[in-house]
Amino acid sequence: MPVTIARPRSLRGEIIAPGDKSVSHRAIMFNALSNTGTAHVTNFSPGADCTSTVEIMRALGVEISRKEGENGAGDSLTVKGVGLNGLQEPSGILDAGNSGTTTRLMSGILAGRDIMTILTGDDSLSSRPMGRVVKPLTQMGAEISGRANDTLAPLVFHGGKLAGTTYEMPVASAQLKSCLLLAGLRADGTTTLTQPAESRDHTERMLSAMGVDLQKSGLDLELKPSELETVDVEVPGDISSAAFWLVAAICHPDAELLIRNVGINPTRAGIITALQMMNADLTLIDERDVAGEPVADMLVKTSELKGIELDGDIVPLLIDEIPVIAVAAAIAEGETVIRDAEELRVKESDRIAASISWLKGAGVEAEGTPDGMILAGGNSIGGGQFQSYDDHRLAMSLGVAGLISTEPITVMDPDVAGISYPSFWKIIEDFGGLVG
Ligand code: S3P
Repeated sequence: MPVTIARPRSLRGEIIAPGDKSVSHRAIMFNALSNTGTAHVTNFSPGADCTSTVEIMRALGVEISRKEGENGAGDSLTVKGVGLNGLQEPSGILDAGNSGTTTRLMSGILAGRDIMTILTGDDSLSSRPMGRVVKPLTQMGAEISGRANDTLAPLVFHGGKLAGTTYEMPVASAQLKSCLLLAGLRADGTTTLTQPAESRDHTERMLSAMGVDLQKSGLDLELKPSELETVDVEVPGDISSAAFWLVAAICHPDAELLIRNVGINPTRAGIITALQMMNADLTLIDERDVAGEPVADMLVKTSELKGIELDGDIVPLLIDEIPVIAVAAAIAEGETVIRDAEELRVKESDRIAASISWLKGAGVEAEGTPDGMILAGGNSIGGGQFQSYDDHRLAMSLGVAGLISTEPITVMDPDVAGISYPSFWKIIEDFGGLVG
């Protein structure tokens, strides 16, 4: 059922960010491969994507128990590691649902094993590029086939014997990097990766905490095959989920929000830099370290925003936040230009085309380019009925637009927000923004 959002008179209160999706996937996958016992994972992401990872690991013979969190806390899980070579052949097809992270990281885990596995997902996932992981894994000795000349899921992993490789990554992708590091754990010899730019480093942090021999020098990573030691993970709040409230608050004429427990890992925090460049009234409070990841609370208020240019190395550090940054850019004073973001075209939807389509429909002056967008700025966002494009971040960006637009915004297929943030619409309701 569609939802309709209208601007509430004010936007005030406190929100606790849900557990980070990227860290949650990794906490389950990596601990499943450890050989030193049981790990405890708390504040696990409530989204469907991370549940796909849990179900796949269970299908591969890993014992995982899950307990619902109380009083708004995320779920607690225990994972009993089976060791690097302990995964069992599943009786059915492994379903990654909508999750690119599950598919690409699991590809590194499933490659070159003596069990046969098939990994697939929904329509969106089945159209996303998998050649970027199949090609280097094949170079390492894995036998993998897939649709469209081994570039699309379903992917079939037949076996092979992995050898370490030296690989120059063509894209700054944490999913690709993590996939190859995971394959490298079981390979003969060293795996060396050169990244074109920095991307989120949760894999490096967690593997190092688990005792893996992983060295970083500039943008190069060098991993030696290693066993994993179990590590307990308290998952920090997801900055990509917090981003929706940050933008809602800076754009709303009467807003003050405190967002608690947000991960501010520098390789994820591009949104903070971008919003501060836009003149956002955003303060970090009580910066602290939680299980090897920096965390803070965020106080954010109504702001006089200005347009900015976003390109180069910052882009991978805020790649998931661009659809909601576009909402702020639409109303900011002056032009915003986003470049070097061609990866947006191969996310859960083509996020450049989808964003431009709804922005124009809401009366915003906006233009797509092959690698980004240009927003004239100084517009108000009008109302209308818009598609979610089967994309959780598009649906939630539309929800934010509804909180600040001049007329109500109706969002089709809002449930897709559950991929990363199932309580998103409930929070909008609590703000008094849900009118239908
Ligand atoms: C993710 C990496 C990013 C991001 C995705 C999660 C991860 O993808 O868009 O939502 O957890 O590694 P790429 O690394 O492919 O850009």
